[in-house]
Amino acid sequence: MNQNAIASETEVTETLSDLPFYNEIECGDSADLLRQIPDDRVDLVITSPPYFQQREYHGGGIGNEATLDDYIATLLNIFRECVRIIKPTGNIIFNMGDKYDNSSLLLIPYRFAIAATEQCDVTLVNNITWVKTNPTPRQFKRRLVSSTEPFFHFVKSRHYQYYLDEFLKSEKIGKIKRDCPQNTNVGQRYFSLIAQSDLNSRQKEMAYTALENVIQEVKDGKIEGFRMKIRGIHSEPFGGQEGGRKIQLDKNGFTIIRIHGNPLKKDAIVTPVESVKNCPHPAIYPVQIIEEFLHLLTKPGNIVLDPFVGSGSTAVAAIKQQRVYIGFDISQEYCQFARERLQNLTHQLKLW
Ligand SMILES: C[S@@+](CC[C@H](N)C(=O)[O-])C[C@H]1O[C@@H](n2cnc3c(N)ncnc32)[C@H](O)[C@@H]1O
Repeated sequence: MNQNAIASETEVTETLSDLPFYNEIECGDSADLLRQIPDDRVDLVITSPPYFQQREYHGGGIGNEATLDDYIATLLNIFRECVRIIKPTGNIIFNMGDKYDNSSLLLIPYRFAIAATEQCDVTLVNNITWVKTNPTPRQFKRRLVSSTEPFFHFVKSRHYQYYLDEFLKSEKIGKIKRDCPQNTNVGQRYFSLIAQSDLNSRQKEMAYTALENVIQEVKDGKIEGFRMKIRGIHSEPFGGQEGGRKIQLDKNGFTIIRIHGNPLKKDAIVTPVESVKNCPHPAIYPVQIIEEFLHLLTKPGNIVLDPFVGSGSTAVAAIKQQRVYIGFDISQEYCQFARERLQNLTHQLKLW
C-alpha cells in the first residue's frame, strides 16, 4: 500500500484500517473497485466522469456506449455506488462535459442530474458553474464558444458537512476569483446624477471627490459596495436611524451608504483551464477548483474518493489539503502518470 499521505501513520492505521486501499491510485474498473468500499465510509466523492463518445481516453471504459441513454444508465450505476459509500454527512460532486450531436447541444450534464435526482435518493444542493477564462479557441460562425461546465453538488442527507466560510476564502489560492472579473463600471452612474442635480458647484465638487474615494474602497476590497443618495434625485431618508443621513443630505447635498459584510458566496468559479507538464490526459480539471470543494465540504484527514481520477488531479488537491485520497482509473497509462505526479508532489512538499 502506497501510504504517501501527509497524515501520520498512526492516525491512518487507526481510522482507515477497514478500507481496502487509501492514499493510492488503483487501476481498474471503478464499478468493481467501488463495490469493495464499505457503506457510509467516505466524506467526499468528487469526480469528472468520462465524456460521452469522445473516445479520447486510453484504456476504453465508460463513454463508448451506443446511446446517450445507455451512457447515463452506466453512470447512474456508478453514482448509486457513490451514494452508498458516502457517510450520511458526506457529499458528492460530479463535473460533466457536454457534447453537440448534429449541431444540437445534447445537455448531457443536465440529463444526468435530472436522472440522478429522480432515480437515486439524493438532493441536488447546487449547480456550481466553472467559468473558463481561457476556453479552447474556436471560430464558429453560427454559435458561441462554450466556456462553462457544471459541477453538481449532491447529498444524501440534510446533515451534510459544509464549511461555507472556507469556500473561495483566499484570493491567494490560485487565480480563482469569487466573482466575474471586477466590474470597472462600479458607481459610474452617480457621476452623471451629480451633474444633473441642483447641488451648488462646491457641493458637486465634494460629491465627486467622495464618490471617487468610495469607488476606490470597493476596488481595493475594503467594502463590498455602496449606495449614494443625492438631494433632489433620490428619495429622502426618514428620521430615526436615518436622521444622520438626512442631515448630511440637507447640509452637503449627498450621502454615501457603505455596504460592509461578507462577500456573497456565489455558485460560480472563474478560473483558467489548467495544463500539466507532459500530461498524456486530454481532459483534466484544475486542482484549484478541487481544493475549493475540499475547503467547502471536508476537513483535514477526511476521505476523498475519485472513481475516474485520470491524471490524479483530485489526489493532488487532497494531498495539498491534507485529506486522504482514493483514486481509480481504468487506464494503466493514466494511473502510472498520476502515481508519478503524486510522488513528485510529495517529494516537493517534503522539501518545503
Ligand atoms: C474526464 S477523465 C477524468 C480526468 C480527471 N478529472 C483529471 O483531472 O485528470 C475520465 C477518466 O475516466 C476513466 N475511465 C473511463 N471508464 C472508466 C471505468 N469504467 N473505471 C475507471 N475509470 C474509467 C478514463 O480513463 C479517464 O481518465
